[in-house]
Amino acid sequence: MIILGIETSCDETALAIIETCDNNGIFECRVISSLIHSQAELHSAYGGVFPTLAKREHEKNLVPLLEKILEKLKVDKKISVTIQDSRFKIQEEDTRTNTPTTEKIGNFNEITASFKTEFAEQNSDLVASVVNAQFLAYKPNIDAIAVTEGPGLEPALWTGIVFAKMLSRLWNIPVIPVNHMEGHVVGSLLESDVANCEWQKLKTLPMPALALLISGGHTELVKVETSSNKLVAQKFHYTIIGQTKDDAVGEAFDKVARLLGLPYPGGPHISKLAQSAREQGIKSILKLPRPMINSGDLNFSFSGLKTAVLYAVKDEEKSTNSKDNFLSDEFKKGLAREFEDSVTETLDAKLRKAIEETGAQSVIIGGGVSANSMLRAQFQKTATEYGIGLYLPSQHISGDNALMIALAGALSGPNTSKEIRAHGTKRLGN
Ligand code: KG4
Ligand code: ZN
Repeated sequence: MIILGIETSCDETALAIIETCDNNGIFECRVISSLIHSQAELHSAYGGVFPTLAKREHEKNLVPLLEKILEKLKVDKKISVTIQDSRFKIQEEDTRTNTPTTEKIGNFNEITASFKTEFAEQNSDLVASVVNAQFLAYKPNIDAIAVTEGPGLEPALWTGIVFAKMLSRLWNIPVIPVNHMEGHVVGSLLESDVANCEWQKLKTLPMPALALLISGGHTELVKVETSSNKLVAQKFHYTIIGQTKDDAVGEAFDKVARLLGLPYPGGPHISKLAQSAREQGIKSILKLPRPMINSGDLNFSFSGLKTAVLYAVKDEEKSTNSKDNFLSDEFKKGLAREFEDSVTETLDAKLRKAIEETGAQSVIIGGGVSANSMLRAQFQKTATEYGIGLYLPSQHISGDNALMIALAGALSGPNTSKEIRAHGTKRLGN
């Protein structure tokens, strides 16, 4: 089965194409292409993601990105050369399906005319761009579309969903709704995210498993279970056993970065400052709190930590008589280091508690914050101490992408029974 994944939940417009197969009961897949168009620079001016701007950018980028990715479907040909009647005969065979790569849709204008009445009120720019995209009149070798239905920014989510619905109508294929957070879980199971069309099995996940999901919108500890231990396409079952009471950890990184005059998204900048503080032996004079570290449960809180940074910045400005964003490099580095240490200790303490409480045999880390090298090293240390497997996403999969959405869609399979809607606050497990 060839699946097109669509991800538009936040500020990344992403598309991916994967092929999956059942190899004697074992789920295998290969990455044909994965494209991400980041809007981070645009949102940087606002210090965070601006929902209507995100929607506008998705509307603008989806069709050109699709045209680009569909090119990848055409190139994977097997060329065989045979000799017939003393002549060379060159045969091109599509290695995926043996069917023609494209087939013209007879009533393209008729179908797209219905999009204007149905979707133009909500997504006029996207509808206009679909109506004018003549390449969409050729059905590619795609069997299903997986699209993020939530959680995320609703105007942004709707754009991806409306796009999926239009393509589904044009090409007469099903749409699979995908929970963005499940994407972050299963993305870490890929052996490789390289779009080289090599078949791969997913990593084996000893059960029970735990997922620590750390992103710009979420901080969750999730118990992951499955009804079968076989590596076939399967549904995972999720139970949230801990979550943030206020800000998400990525949000805290972004807010602290802003306080230190660094651009959005702030996580990578804070991490860089903290690393140079460690290399240069710079420490913060101030000790930040380790929020809820001894709360006895698996929940988190990061808003107090951000407020503590705010007061530290204000005090520094007062004592040095400096104005906004004129903090010394040494101060910024020391504070970034202390902040990163606080986040690392807190997340790690809760992860250890969750491993002990659930008897987890494996831990998956997912979400944009999992790119943080300090956290990755600490989680590795913890998993080694407990003698359990750690599943970290590769760099390309740690942030938002459509590869993880296509994979999650493939694992859960088509479910055409319900109307697909955007769920801004959709949770895992319901
Ligand atoms: O999963 P993601 O790409 O988008 C959401 O679904 O939220 O996560 C984005 C978050 C941002 O808050 C960003 O600052 C954070 O991930 N992030 C990092 C790092 N790279 C990205 N946080 C800490 N260290 C990093 N290296
Ligand atoms: Zn995400």
